[in-house]
Amino acid sequence: MTDQLRTERLLLRRWTDADRPAFHALNSDPLVMATIGQTMSRGESDAFMNRIEHRFDEHGFGLWCVDLDGESIGFTGLMVPWFRDGVEIGWRIRSEHWGQGFAPEAALECLRHAFTARHAGGLGLDELVSFTAATNTKSRRVMEKIGLRHDPDGDFDHPSVPEGDPLRPHVLYRAHRATWAERGTGSDAPSEPAGPGVA
Ligand SMILES: CC(C)(COP(=O)(O)OP(=O)(O)OC[C@H]1O[C@@H](n2cnc3c(N)ncnc32)[C@H](O)[C@@H]1OP(=O)(O)O)[C@@H](O)C(=O)NCCC(=O)NCCS
Repeated sequence: MTDQLRTERLLLRRWTDADRPAFHALNSDPLVMATIGQTMSRGESDAFMNRIEHRFDEHGFGLWCVDLDGESIGFTGLMVPWFRDGVEIGWRIRSEHWGQGFAPEAALECLRHAFTARHAGGLGLDELVSFTAATNTKSRRVMEKIGLRHDPDGDFDHPSVPEGDPLRPHVLYRAHRATWAERGTGSDAPSEPAGPGVA
């Protein structure tokens, strides 16, 4: 179980009760939730944090708190979707911190951790998926920046979004460990290649 990951500017860590107000600020911001669904009450946000922490204990990974200089500015991490196989990578950043590349920075570290071999401290996954409402250009930009590829054959209607809702059509993106390892040698390589532990 890896409780913490670090990037140049960010600490990705487990959640504490002290983060609950900032987490609610994130989940109740209409700008943030416009591409996801309903804003959350404090109770709903607290219950969501409890589920995230439970998933860390269950899977050994989860949606890490993105900590900027001691302040929780959102989450980025890995989860198992309830309606399909695989492990998903996702993100949500407080709107006052948008546009500074925090989500892709955190996500690249999550990708590295996911694709690093188990004996080297990673999760040893072969593939990650990511999906978002087709209209969510901000999230799609993050996917593209970190090297995920759109798989149009995998696009789908999200089962928890009602029919007729414009957020229902979703796009599916994928990342594979082999491709990730190759990116480590390219000119647009991420700051940390997959590392020696990757097969
Ligand atoms: C998607 C999200 C996490 C991106 O976080 P971020 O740290 O701002 O990421 P970036 O700085 O790389 O910006 C990504 C894109 O967002 C857009 N963007 C950035 N700042 C913006 C702002 N202030 N207003 C509107 N759009 C903005 C740009 O298109 C940008 O792409 P570019 O860098 O090529 O111009 C953030 O916008 C967010 O939390 N959105 C709401 C939650 C969400 O949709 N999560 C994904 C659900 S699947």
